[in-house]
Amino acid sequence: MRGAIAVKWKGRVFPRISRFALVLAAGILLAADAPQAPKKTRQRERVASNLQLPPPVLSGKMSVEEALSKRRSVRRFIRRELGLAQVGQLMWAAQGINRTSEGERKLRTVPSAGQTYPLEVYLASQDGLFHYLPREHQLEWLDRTDLRGALAEAAAQQEFIREAPAVIILTAVPARTSARYGEQAPRYIFLEAGHAAQNVQLQSTALEMGSVCVAGFFEEAVSEALKLPGDEIPLYLIPVGWPDALQPTPTYAEPLSSTVDAQLPGPTGTTGAPAPAK
Ligand SMILES: Cc1cc2nc3c(=O)[nH]c(=O)nc-3n(C[C@H](O)[C@H](O)[C@H](O)COP(=O)(O)O)c2cc1C
Repeated sequence: MRGAIAVKWKGRVFPRISRFALVLAAGILLAADAPQAPKKTRQRERVASNLQLPPPVLSGKMSVEEALSKRRSVRRFIRRELGLAQVGQLMWAAQGINRTSEGERKLRTVPSAGQTYPLEVYLASQDGLFHYLPREHQLEWLDRTDLRGALAEAAAQQEFIREAPAVIILTAVPARTSARYGEQAPRYIFLEAGHAAQNVQLQSTALEMGSVCVAGFFEEAVSEALKLPGDEIPLYLIPVGWPDALQPTPTYAEPLSSTVDAQLPGPTGTTGAPAPAK
């Protein structure tokens, strides 16, 4: 199984350890030596100067109740690219700054255990790969390659990932949270990714757009496609765009046995990857 290896520890053999567990364990060990969490901003190569996003709109046309009633998974999109306004709004919903604390800390639209903020947000589109900088509300342009096809392949050919005008990617740097919370960190990080993903779903609904939260992918393949640093792991792919009226039934959800495989994250090095077609 890709991304999973056997590990021996304290006389016991753990046959399949996912990259998440390894990255987290490394984080905990490093944290024992160095109580400081790694810096939040890390230098990555860029292919152009940063894009400034328009300030988020704080009063939209749809109430939160209406967005809740309309939220659903959207897997078929019309061919219309997102504008900077939509991108800015979605990035802000996922991880944007919404206030400054009394201690001058910049706090976000999503709660975070101990304000450790382990999540990073990326956007893949026909123009390439972008990384969101919450403090600056800017996008770093990391790659000019359209990675949506590679992401679809990494998600066992879920073709709507290739066809969506944009894919928001949530990743985590586990050491930020494990430095403070040790073995509680995985639970906290998964919960935070859920908060961020729900914000994206509700925000896209409020913009009369649609999205789907995809965790059925091979971690290693997504990490390779995005060239993620070694201490960072992918958690969610969220294709987003304007819904096509004709929405397909999710093929990955049938039959029942594959649904269970697909939706339960297992110790197999995948994050709930869909079972291969029979
Ligand atoms: C953790 C998680 C993983 C998911 N992974 C996938 C996926 O890999 N592919 C997909 O098409 N939908 C995926 N979904 C979306 C679910 O299929 C969807 O939420 C469910 O069918 C309910 O439909 P609704 O979102 O329209 O209410 C995932 C949802 C969650 C919460």
